Amino acid sequence: MAVATRLEIAERISRISVSSTMKVAADAEKLRSQGKDVVDFGAGEPDFPTPDNIKQAAVRALEQNFTKYTAASGTLELKQAVCERHAQDFGTSYQPSECVISVGGKHAIFNLTQALVNPGDEVVIPVPYWVTYKDVVNYAGGKCVFVETDEEQGFTVTASMIEPHLSGRTRFVIINSPSNPSGAVLDPGEFDKIYRLTSSRGIYLLTDECYCQFLYEGRPFSVASLPGAQENVLVAGSLSKTYAMTGWRIGFALTPAAIAQAMNKLQSHSTSNPTSIAQKAAVEALRGPQDSVVRMLAEYRKRRDFVVERLRRIPGVRCAEPRGAFYAYPNLGVALGKRGIQNTLALCERLLEQALLAVVPGEAFGTSQHVRISYATSMQELERGLDRLHEFVAGLD
Ligand SMILES: Cc1ncc(COP(=O)(O)O)c(C=O)c1O
Repeated sequence: MAVATRLEIAERISRISVSSTMKVAADAEKLRSQGKDVVDFGAGEPDFPTPDNIKQAAVRALEQNFTKYTAASGTLELKQAVCERHAQDFGTSYQPSECVISVGGKHAIFNLTQALVNPGDEVVIPVPYWVTYKDVVNYAGGKCVFVETDEEQGFTVTASMIEPHLSGRTRFVIINSPSNPSGAVLDPGEFDKIYRLTSSRGIYLLTDECYCQFLYEGRPFSVASLPGAQENVLVAGSLSKTYAMTGWRIGFALTPAAIAQAMNKLQSHSTSNPTSIAQKAAVEALRGPQDSVVRMLAEYRKRRDFVVERLRRIPGVRCAEPRGAFYAYPNLGVALGKRGIQNTLALCERLLEQALLAVVPGEAFGTSQHVRISYATSMQELERGLDRLHEFVAGLD
């Protein structure tokens, strides 16, 4: 006779939660499938199609039957292309042995964390943070140490804010500039100070460069370009946003070779190689013309200006100016405590149900009065969604 199977999920899964950005997307999708006209500011992905030259490279890969396994950490050709682009953009000198190609930037950060964090180790994370950092650190058994930032200072973090949070157990500090969710950008001078602080203590600095090309002032900068920094800096990169390739799932890490080898070992027993065809497309993205990136950035700038202006017109709403990426992170504290709305989770639920507007609650990013608005959507949708937000907030009084 069969015995009832014991349904018991492993303890490490209980340390993580479903990504709240993905939950917002699923809730919005559910309403849409019921025929509701939802405006979606939740999705953190470009609304532009993948540029044609990149798509054509994938077609060629298929025609040439480039459809088999590749090396688990990616093809040599793509690693070279990643190192060359990083050298060209930032003046670094990475070798393919220091590069791992992963299934998106998220995978690179996951594998890096698995390779470096032992149970009880600490990882320092400025607030507000991208949701995934917390979960990947918890999954590895590490401890997140959060550094609060100041909205009045545009949510930027400084070396002196980080210093008191470092300990003998700190493995790395994560900096994400431009930031998801706040759009905050760290100036090269402050990056340098943070690098000197961490490297003087034998602590790695993980720089998440996912949005590095989407900067509204100044030139893109990588902390790995500072003299000697390649020893102490871990770069996590992604093609997802830069080339509007979210679905292709190509990201990378640039790290000291021993760490790249450890990540490769893990990858070889989990995902194996990222999709062969997507790797060929990624080579074209990195080596081909870069004008689509410039065009997208110009469009995001227009939208940023529009969104910030419209948000600031809503009575009681504050919004720090995003200096990069494609998110605004307004303070909607004015809506809290009204009509039973106790926190931004409840606020976002109400916005979705009553105003048919999807935004992500600030609780997901570690702050209690904000929501994240992705402006990687058309001007027309931005206009409709901001009308709804204005009307909803004004109607609470
Ligand atoms: C800050 C940040 N880092 C990394 C990623 C990873 O992107 P992907 O896994 O799609 O390459 C994202 C995606 O939203 C992000 O916002």
